[in-house]
Amino acid sequence: MSRVGVFGAGYVGLVTGACFAELGHDVVVRDVVADRIEQLRAGTVPIYEPGLEELLSRNAERMTFTLEVADAVEGADFLYVAVGTPPTYSGDADLSAVWTVVDELAGLERPAVLVMKSTVPVGTGAKVRHRLDERGLDNVGYVSNPEFTAEGTAVRDFQQPDRIVIGAFAAADGDAVEELHRGIEAPVVRSDVASAEMIKLAANAALMTRISFINEIANVCEVTGADVVRVAEGVGLDRRIGPSFLRAGIGYGGSCFPKDSLALKQLAANSGYHFQLLNAVIEVNELQKRRVIGKLQQHLGSLRGKTVALLGIAFKPNTDDVREAPSLVLAGRLVAEGADVRAWDPVADGSALPRATICGDPLEALDGADAAVVVTEWPQLAQLDWRAAAGRMRNPLLIDGRNMLDPDELRAAGFTYEGIGRAAA
Ligand code: UGA
Repeated sequence: MSRVGVFGAGYVGLVTGACFAELGHDVVVRDVVADRIEQLRAGTVPIYEPGLEELLSRNAERMTFTLEVADAVEGADFLYVAVGTPPTYSGDADLSAVWTVVDELAGLERPAVLVMKSTVPVGTGAKVRHRLDERGLDNVGYVSNPEFTAEGTAVRDFQQPDRIVIGAFAAADGDAVEELHRGIEAPVVRSDVASAEMIKLAANAALMTRISFINEIANVCEVTGADVVRVAEGVGLDRRIGPSFLRAGIGYGGSCFPKDSLALKQLAANSGYHFQLLNAVIEVNELQKRRVIGKLQQHLGSLRGKTVALLGIAFKPNTDDVREAPSLVLAGRLVAEGADVRAWDPVADGSALPRATICGDPLEALDGADAAVVVTEWPQLAQLDWRAAAGRMRNPLLIDGRNMLDPDELRAAGFTYEGIGRAAA
């Protein structure tokens, strides 16, 4: 069994650490936020990720949490970097947290492998390798081992991945990281470091492209009378295409897609290449978030003084993450149009929404509203008593931004229902 130091106690670091502990390894997770480390030591999980709490408590004896670099480095066979790489003003990834970790690795006496889990631009590994060499750390190997876990299903995605990607400069380091994953059944893709870095960015870009593609098909469905839900089903059954990531809606958000698309776009641009398709994917997504406002205006005219309920704040269900959530853009646009915003979410904190009244349950959010928008497809909404919901609204208009509800049932419950790319009544 190995000893793994993990830098970063966010979604990726905690899931990675807990899953390695579950495989039997000793794990030390280091973060710079004292409050976070204290919570973890006290057995409280600072983020909402299904299955993580159980995993952490089951493996408590193999996991320690620390603020000290030395604790994470001491005796470590592997040093996993799982720090944030947020976008800078220019859209490039901000690697300052990555560089801080690399620069903090002083005095490593025994051989270890530095493993990059954070999403970084292609070429980062080569730069880190160079910096390690400059500092005489040639006993530290370097491996790119990108993550493909999605929030809400991260534990399952880690334990039952579609593949494990390992890009190494030295084959022995790649072998060691492969061995560290023993117990996880999955195809292993071995490559050079740059290709592993690109696999991560290209995989996310492919998924985003599918979403923007189906959203554009949805928009064309709206003007031609087709129903995108049936269209996606019919298209997705083609084995060459497949059904995943063909759910039309109000656009993608989250901590990964928006950031990674910008980072890949800028990576290409910085190298002199204009990535036209990716630019279009990003632009379609931006417009998609705003189209809901147009739908509301079609029904209500001016939104000034109207009350709109946003059902869901998180960027997707089963997470409390609101980073780049469509709810933020919608709330901002509604406020700009002079509307009052009421919002509900079962776990996400609504404090990031500009000037919204945050409600404890969906029915409360609908009280006196002129319209409601399903922003996040929380399962609670499928179970809601929509007839009662219609009764609480001033005007029962529902824009189903995720096409999660049955249009006929909603209409029977008294709603004017509109989805995304679905035929009108
Ligand atoms: C995504 C990828 O799915 C992971 O493989 C990847 O590891 C991760 O980014 C990352 O780079 O760290 P995540 O952002 O957690 O994971 O969530 P997804 O389930 O991929 O959803 C992203 C967004 O796309 C959400 O806003 C979701 O509502 C939207 N989406 C997804 C659609 O609009 N339609 C779809 O058909 C699927």
